Amino acid sequence: MNIELTMDKLVSLCKRRGIIFPGSEIYGGLAGTWDYGPVGVEMKNNIKAAWWKMFVHDRHDMYGIDSAILMNPRVWEASGHVSGFTDPMVDCKNCKNRFRADHLDEGKYGEVKIIDGKKACPVCGSTELTEPRLFNMMFRTYIGPVQDTESLVYLRPENAQGMFVDFKNVLDTMHPKLPFGIAQIGRVFRNEVTPGDFVFRVREFDLMEFEYFIDPKNWEELFEMWMKEIYKWLAFLGLDKEKIYNHEIPDGERAHYSKRTIDIEYQFPFGMKELCAIAYRTDYDLKRHIEKSGKDLTYFDEKTGQRFIPHVLEPTFGLDRALLASLVAAYKEEKLENGETRIVLKLPPKISAYKAAVFPLVSNKESIVNKADEVYKILKPHFNTIFDDNGNIGKRYRRQDEIGTPFCITIDYDTLEKDDVTVRDRDTMKQERIKIEALIDYIKTRLE
Ligand code: GAP
Repeated sequence: MNIELTMDKLVSLCKRRGIIFPGSEIYGGLAGTWDYGPVGVEMKNNIKAAWWKMFVHDRHDMYGIDSAILMNPRVWEASGHVSGFTDPMVDCKNCKNRFRADHLDEGKYGEVKIIDGKKACPVCGSTELTEPRLFNMMFRTYIGPVQDTESLVYLRPENAQGMFVDFKNVLDTMHPKLPFGIAQIGRVFRNEVTPGDFVFRVREFDLMEFEYFIDPKNWEELFEMWMKEIYKWLAFLGLDKEKIYNHEIPDGERAHYSKRTIDIEYQFPFGMKELCAIAYRTDYDLKRHIEKSGKDLTYFDEKTGQRFIPHVLEPTFGLDRALLASLVAAYKEEKLENGETRIVLKLPPKISAYKAAVFPLVSNKESIVNKADEVYKILKPHFNTIFDDNGNIGKRYRRQDEIGTPFCITIDYDTLEKDDVTVRDRDTMKQERIKIEALIDYIKTRLE
């Protein structure tokens, strides 16, 4: 069925099914923060694990790290974040709403009328808007009891600097040869002027990124190689190629450190927006850290006998945006023969929170409940499995469809006689009788 997925529908599904809740909800929330519920955290962890497998474990040239969120503030001076990690901000003096100047001009907050040559606030219509002011997006805090400039530190706005700062440690301990990468998944913080669009733009999020250190001679070839790998990742997320757009950032609009950047955009319900990106950061960061720290961060090539500063390709992926895109792509509404509409998340099974749900047909017959518990315990060590005996079978199917559980397994009176169960497939809704002893293999082969 051709449906229009609105963000309201998705936000409400995520809340209702334990995927994502508003942050600090019982206190009225906190703008730009969301909590992942029991179902959402499993999905998020599955994406994280798959990313680590694809980009670290399945490769011979990648090293993982987990660096501290709080870093010496000189790191952020060297990287350019203290002076340059800013957004232009405009305030309405009348209604006190705050806007990002570039988003205001793009019409993101609605049409901006011009009255007497002045821009009018899209919320209240007043022309009392401030001039754009640059606002640094790094969150600040203090180390120790005294709050002064000496104790000021920042919450990291990206993981990348951890990889540059630990570059020498990785070189000295692992002795990698170029090209090689340092990867990290971790929480980052950005004081966004206007967070919004659910978990698309938030104030803290998980970032999965790596710095791939190269000899600059063949950067173009390696850039293309990474584009191909990124597309394999996007296929894993279940995204349709037709809905992905490579936005080549033109000269003059790229970050100060980049010689080439492609923002990979996805067709979200609120528009074609950046999902992940790849940048050729040149030797900008290592060079800056050499200058500011005075340490030698060069690489010695044993083959050529040359010592030089490696250049860097950086693919970067927001985890929250990856899950959001996956949910958007998976959301389907199907008209059933009985006239009802079923909502189903046709997620790639590797992303689904649970691979199987086990239902006793009735919850008040001890022999059936015990048998269902036995089946649940057989499956649980192999797949994340959920036991559900709430409401009737129809309601249980609806719940599992809405969180994208690929298989629902019902234990009934026949099971007690024949040791077989009904397995219902999420996508086709077809049901099959399967022997309990064959269940693990049945599910395993269909999860690949
Ligand atoms: N180290 C490079 C870097 O941090 P970025 O384009 O600023 O690059 C990387 O961010 C990725 O982080 C983006 O492609 C996007 O997926 C995600 N991202 C950025 N800002 C975000 C926000 N406020 N909320 C959620 N995800 C965000």
